Amino acid sequence: MTTPTRIALAAGDGIGPEIMDATLALFRAAGVDKHLEFVPVEMGKSVFDKGESRGMTDAAQKTVESCGILFKGPMETPKGGGGKSINVTARKIWNAFANFRVFRTLPGVETTFSKAGIPIDLVVVRENVEDTYGGVEHRLSNDMIQCKRLTSAPGCDQVLRYSFETAKKLGLSRIDCGHKANIMKLTDGLWLERFRTMAKEYPTLTAGDVIVDALCMNLVLKPQQYQMVVLPNLQGDIVSDLCAGLVGGLGFAPSANIGTHISIFEAVHGTAPDIAGKGIANPAALILSGLMMLRHIGLGQSAAAIENALLAALEEGARTGDFGDKSKPALGTNDFAKRIADKLGSAPKHVPAVPVPATPDAVTVKPPVKPTHQVVIRTFTKVVTRVVGCDVYLDTPLSTVSVAEELSRIAEGTPFRLVLISNRGTQVWPTGSAYTECVDYWRARFELRDGVDSSLIDQAKAISLLDRIAEKFTVCSYELLRTFDGVKGFSMAQGQ
Ligand code: NAI
Repeated sequence: MTTPTRIALAAGDGIGPEIMDATLALFRAAGVDKHLEFVPVEMGKSVFDKGESRGMTDAAQKTVESCGILFKGPMETPKGGGGKSINVTARKIWNAFANFRVFRTLPGVETTFSKAGIPIDLVVVRENVEDTYGGVEHRLSNDMIQCKRLTSAPGCDQVLRYSFETAKKLGLSRIDCGHKANIMKLTDGLWLERFRTMAKEYPTLTAGDVIVDALCMNLVLKPQQYQMVVLPNLQGDIVSDLCAGLVGGLGFAPSANIGTHISIFEAVHGTAPDIAGKGIANPAALILSGLMMLRHIGLGQSAAAIENALLAALEEGARTGDFGDKSKPALGTNDFAKRIADKLGSAPKHVPAVPVPATPDAVTVKPPVKPTHQVVIRTFTKVVTRVVGCDVYLDTPLSTVSVAEELSRIAEGTPFRLVLISNRGTQVWPTGSAYTECVDYWRARFELRDGVDSSLIDQAKAISLLDRIAEKFTVCSYELLRTFDGVKGFSMAQGQ
């Protein structure tokens, strides 16, 4: 007998333990425990309550890192107090960069689209590590708070590569990139540019792109036009809940967080505190997430058998209270899973059965080899960068004209000149509109004077200008303006 593969298991908080128990009972009934050993780890509320702000114990971290796979229930994020979400922490520290979410019409789950006879079968891949989920936030003045939105070329490439490869493996014919590059020209511009560049390597896939707001409307009007949509983190989070709504709600939205070394499988929904402890939660999303895990590690036959049993049970009207025909009695969490287990070996009659792969079940994923050090992933190298200016952010009670006069005076004798002042990204000096309302956080942009050779300027010169400004003004923050192979690495102000 082969040694079972170890999977780290965190039951989660709220409804987590209830739906996890039901899911594991179903998996045992399908014989999955022949191949797998679930190793419990301590993560979530109980760990936060002990004062461990990461939300996981050292032993839990070690176990997950040695297994390489974490199957988890939802976990509560402490409200306020600076405690970070353990769900986001787990995805980020283990670089589970691609959040793969599937939204599919299921029998017995009535929705506007199912009633109209329109089937939905849609994948959303959400970037999982960067964007505003970096959680880099600062209060910059009395009235202004900033959240940095981080987008890196290798970060885009990792998730886009996974998406194109998965689309190919799934036999899809199109892939669409959602973005807001019309407004965020550098961050989402990079995301879109990397998508378009990579698309050239996949000529069999039709690659489209769509602005995220239009995407939301299109998904509500005609979801069947999409097969796979890839999105930056926050946009992907919002769009995937919209897609969950299209197929009957969060009870049916599974997800996989895929990384190079470690992958995490969990339902999209949270801890559902309003129904926790009542034994009525719907385990389907966690079951479907578990099926993604089984397929990921090579247990495709078991996954297909369980999925067909789920479809057959749903067809017969098995339901928990959150969905289905309300005139029929709802089952509790365990009974619902038991009804699925009773259907093992059956196939659905009215919808196509999930094909059972020919390859027999065998775990193909090996535990990860621990990296010896943190790796720097890079896309662009050998880029010539030049400092061509700086943006200095100030909190000042002076009028815009007085600020401009004072800053221009301070810059005398330096290689830089004041070119604009903006407020909340809108230019207010040298020209601007009296209708622009301002807040207590001003940007002063300095660029090199005409004729100054940028190859002779280094960042020390820009920083010494900052020192001079800091003697007179309250400086809130600071950014260097640089060119990269001659292309400006900064945006213009609105109205510039
Ligand atoms: P939620 O997803 O827990 O609940 C939203 C609504 O959906 C509630 O009415 C709930 O009863 C219902 N619902 C969710 N899952 C269900 C299920 N399986 N069966 C039946 N009904 C279900 O979202 P909420 O209330 O915003 O968050 C609660 C907590 O969960 C928060 O602490 C949040 O941070 C955490 N959370 C954790 C996630 C994770 O672990 N990946 C994801 C989202 C939220």
